[in-house]
Amino acid sequence: MPRQTPSPERPYHHAASLACVIGWPAKHSRSPLIHRYWLERYGLPGDYEIAEVSPEDFDPFLLNLRENGYVGGNVTVPHKVAAARIVRDLDETAAALGAVNTVWYENGDLIGANTDVYGFLANLDAAVPDWQAGVDRAVVLGAGGAARGIVHGLMSRGVDRIDVINRTVEKAEALRGDFGNRVAAFSMDTLPARLAGARLLVNTTSLGMVGASPLDIDLTPLADDAVVSDIVYVPLRTALLKQAGDRGLRTVDGLGMLLHQAVPGFEKWFGRRPEVTDDLRALIIADIEAA
Ligand code: ATR
Repeated sequence: MPRQTPSPERPYHHAASLACVIGWPAKHSRSPLIHRYWLERYGLPGDYEIAEVSPEDFDPFLLNLRENGYVGGNVTVPHKVAAARIVRDLDETAAALGAVNTVWYENGDLIGANTDVYGFLANLDAAVPDWQAGVDRAVVLGAGGAARGIVHGLMSRGVDRIDVINRTVEKAEALRGDFGNRVAAFSMDTLPARLAGARLLVNTTSLGMVGASPLDIDLTPLADDAVVSDIVYVPLRTALLKQAGDRGLRTVDGLGMLLHQAVPGFEKWFGRRPEVTDDLRALIIADIEAA
């Protein structure tokens, strides 16, 4: 259970800030590993811990975040939409998506941001700096919360057209309703035709994750210079990425998105913009492999 009152050795003061990830369940979150790595690397006082909070307890927990001892934190499944409703102010991306994954205080007010989109784009930029070249159309698999963020991010980078393909086509159509006619909605059976000639494919579904069914698609129709990105990172090298690699396509795994989305929050809570390094990546990979 998260502490209810700040302990004397953890004052609100920036000198030893305490942040947390709020989720349900959350005990397997790797966010503490990431933030503690940076705290140690930069020699900063403070800590980052897991706060497992049920949906019924979430509103009061977030409303009293500072009284609970925290300068801010991350919000994860299933609380991102509720958080957007509760915070005093939203950044542009969180407002556009109606989902918050990072909170902090500004002049006493709780502010909510969505850094998942930043994380996705920063990871693509870092892994394939020229990924935008010739990408006039992207194919996005899935139409859940993650897909919404990624569609928003791709549109913000000027991708003209985004084909959203989902098992439940109505959800893809709802996304089109929200984002307008640069988005097109399709059912799974149209996938081969949608992949034909595409230069960017992003899997936002849980397919391919350990414990889920594999994502079994044929990547042959993609353009020869396509980039294939998966938000799944356990396993790191999903069947989708393996197939793309075997075809000579450039691949971007999901771990980088997790690492990059953590950057803006760390800076808000602990006062220094951290770097996503190979060292940090190796630390998380070792943890995934040990699990
Ligand atoms: P997230 O917030 O991570 O996007 P989500 O909102 O639960 O999670 O969305 C999960 C996505 O994975 C959805 O697009 C879902 O398809 P449906 O909308 O049809 O449910 C997709 N998904 C999950 N399991 C799937 C499966 N077995 N086959 C096809 N798509 C699947």
